[in-house]
Amino acid sequence: MAVDNFPVSDFLAAGERAARAGGQILRDWAEKFTVSEKGPADLVTEADVASQTVIYDLLHGRFPEHGFLGEEGLFQHSGASGFRWIIDPLDGTSNYVHRFPYYAVSIGLEHRGKLLAGVIYDPTRDELFAAGLGCGATLNGRPLRTSRFDRLDQAMVIASFPPGVTADSLPIRRFLNVLPHAQTIHRSGSSALNLAYIAAGRLDGYWSTSLKAWDMAAGVLIVTEAGGRASRMNGTPLDIEVPDLLCTNGTGIHDVLSSLLSGDR
Ligand code: IPD
Ligand code: CA
Ligand code: CA
Repeated sequence: MAVDNFPVSDFLAAGERAARAGGQILRDWAEKFTVSEKGPADLVTEADVASQTVIYDLLHGRFPEHGFLGEEGLFQHSGASGFRWIIDPLDGTSNYVHRFPYYAVSIGLEHRGKLLAGVIYDPTRDELFAAGLGCGATLNGRPLRTSRFDRLDQAMVIASFPPGVTADSLPIRRFLNVLPHAQTIHRSGSSALNLAYIAAGRLDGYWSTSLKAWDMAAGVLIVTEAGGRASRMNGTPLDIEVPDLLCTNGTGIHDVLSSLLSGDR
């Protein structure tokens, strides 16, 4: 498949190079970063910013007409090109700060609102998850397929909560609704890796109502190209600009989770 004379593989190759460069920055800063708070329990380090800079420089250098959206204050309109790179230079900053090795670089590319390519790079394990629209998903070049567990009592699922979540809030009630039905339920701190892990068959479901486009863009394409399903919690079509995501391995687990999560408002 080609868009504007570029095969999707060209975009993927550029995204992979940029994600690996961002990952190297995260390694370089691992022993020397300082932490600031953007808001309560919402952290940022020099590594977040330095990773975004190197990713932007590489992608903007290669595709100067393209638009950009990055978590650390990056916004450049896509203009006539219609392309927009959506970047989370460090997804899982809290984990990074605590040296809990579950964080990643996430880079998605959309064209006129349609996801075309996605790359998630875990610098701790040197794992690169990637997908191009219609090309399937890969992990370090090998094809990926979601798990086939089709019952919630066989499934490992993950929830995420917004910073500052309170005990009596809707995300906690939703978590409690699922808790007695799932085999295992986690909270992990990296939405991008959660999605990559669903694609890799290591997890079976994930939901959140606090994500931004940069948390979802790459991962949603990687999951769907690996045979999984992404929607809003009530099962209607996903919009990555709206913080309402349910993502699963694509089996009957999706509808079961959807009804447990949508029942309580
Ligand atoms: C966070 C992680 C986390 C999710 C938060 C995000 P960040 O991203 O993806 O899993 O629950 O909503 O903000 O801030 O580490 O890039
Ligand atoms: Ca994030
Ligand atoms: Ca981030």
